[in-house]
Amino acid sequence: MIGRKVGIVGSGFVGATAAYSLTLLGTCHEVIMYDIFPDIAKGKAIDIGQSTTYSPQGTVVTHAMTLGEMSNCDIVVITAGVPRKSDMTREDLLMINAKIIKSVVGDIVKYSPNAIILCVANPLDVMSYVIHRLTNWDRNRIIGMAGALDISRMAYQINKKVGFGPGQTRAIVIGDHGENMIPLPEISAVGGIPLSQLIGKNDMDDIIQKTKEGGAEIVKHLGTSAYYAPGRAITVVVQAILDDSRIVIPSSVMLQGEYGCKDVSVGVPIVLGANGCEKIIELELDIETKNKFLTSVASIKEGIAILEKNKFFD
Ligand code: LAC
Repeated sequence: MIGRKVGIVGSGFVGATAAYSLTLLGTCHEVIMYDIFPDIAKGKAIDIGQSTTYSPQGTVVTHAMTLGEMSNCDIVVITAGVPRKSDMTREDLLMINAKIIKSVVGDIVKYSPNAIILCVANPLDVMSYVIHRLTNWDRNRIIGMAGALDISRMAYQINKKVGFGPGQTRAIVIGDHGENMIPLPEISAVGGIPLSQLIGKNDMDDIIQKTKEGGAEIVKHLGTSAYYAPGRAITVVVQAILDDSRIVIPSSVMLQGEYGCKDVSVGVPIVLGANGCEKIIELELDIETKNKFLTSVASIKEGIAILEKNKFFD
């Protein structure tokens, strides 16, 4: 990927924080920002571009006044959408954000026909599905970015609980990026040591609860969605794809028979590389977890059914 050009659609807090952390890390040659309000994209692109004077590796930061100006990207990150307000569930956002996605996907397909799309719009799994349906691309090219964020929140809770191991904690979360997400402490580890050897069941249950509420907790304090951890999580996925580093991160991808599910995008561990989703890893789940996973999938399918009922895909 010689270009290493990353488009960011939506220059709100999440999009801009992703752009800023990409430049801090020197991950790409060019970050191009777009927003429905062109001055926002332009102002932030200039501001972030000026900050790169002090980055270890230069990044060109540009803006697109129209989506047509955002062409030939290797990766397009879709952060567009209205943020969740404290009185909304993610599902409340469904119709509004699906229409926003529809308004941008056609131009992404037209102007960056070889891109990999990272979906960061909520409700995450349904919006990722929407992108699959609207693009009709091979499923490896559409990645819903939620797992990278949810595992960072879970690792944070684990470190708070055990009191050590920051940067050494490997957490895992599957399922939807919503009420039915499934943190899996029993297969998480601190410095390679299984969490089950460090804490008891009550503490594990507490970690599960706090991880699930991770996004909502921030909304409660800020009155709007989180953006530092989401922005940083986006860069992890972008970097893995651009570097073909083949790391394992749970992400929302379209299942076609894996986990016994079809035609639904949901969070499962995948290998991330130059082709996007290089491989879906099928975890062996016990009966209880399998049922939780099916409940999670059913909740995503309910969202898809709402779109079908409203003739969104017709
Ligand atoms: C969150 C939103 C960004 O979980 O989905 O914070």
